[in-house]
Amino acid sequence: MVNMEVFECIITRRSIRNYLDIPVEWDKVGTILEAGRLAPSSGNIQDYNFIVVQDEEKRKAIAEASLRQHWMSKAPVYIVVCADLKKSERLYGVRGNRLYSIQNCAAAIENMLLTAHSLDLGACWVGAFDENVVSRVLNIPDYARPQAIITIGYSDENPKAPQRFPLTTVTFLEKYGNRIKDMPAVMHDYSLVMERNLKQGKSALGKTGSLLTEKGKELAKKIKEKFGK
Ligand SMILES: Cc1cc2nc3c(=O)[nH]c(=O)nc-3n(C[C@H](O)[C@H](O)[C@H](O)COP(=O)(O)O)c2cc1C
Repeated sequence: MVNMEVFECIITRRSIRNYLDIPVEWDKVGTILEAGRLAPSSGNIQDYNFIVVQDEEKRKAIAEASLRQHWMSKAPVYIVVCADLKKSERLYGVRGNRLYSIQNCAAAIENMLLTAHSLDLGACWVGAFDENVVSRVLNIPDYARPQAIITIGYSDENPKAPQRFPLTTVTFLEKYGNRIKDMPAVMHDYSLVMERNLKQGKSALGKTGSLLTEKGKELAKKIKEKFGK
């Protein structure tokens, strides 16, 4: 049963490239596929298909076709996400083919990655592969495009979170290039604002205390305790 808060799931998900030699329960695979099916898509077009691959020979051939990422074949299940370009083009022409089909698959993939994680499974989004070889191995027709392989299994590693750029780097306010200078204030994370002020030796608590939400006051109390009176 899925039992994780969404944001906790987003924060703690990692790409897993080492798997235990144990199978994945079929009902868990079903739940992951269901999460993909429920993803948003342009005009609800749902222009994708998911191929579940368990066969060992096929998994090995696909790993070989994925720039020899042999770690992949340790995962007992792959889900290969294919865009149905006939559908994408019929409804949305060039934009459907070049943009929506990719975004629709990506939304489904992310839903599946998060669901795998919430089910205590490890997964990895693999995009580096020879599309022609993968299409041949899986009988994928010309009008469909394999966009990603999701490897799934029980994790045999606990990788550290790779660094992400801070929000202030990736977010602009109102116009491109306009960086937000005080992100904690924008995010209503008063604890960070005050932690900074306290570090700078200002008596920020006295000045801003009355503006704080209940959550903010609680955090402020904790910070006060941490840094002393
Ligand atoms: C479009 C795309 C393609 C990727 N292709 C590969 C791949 O071929 N092999 C691989 O090991 N990881 C691949 N990844 C996983 C990324 O390396 C990984 O998401 C990134 O390093 C951040 O790590 P995290 O997922 O643990 O947060 C891919 C991810 C995306 C979104």
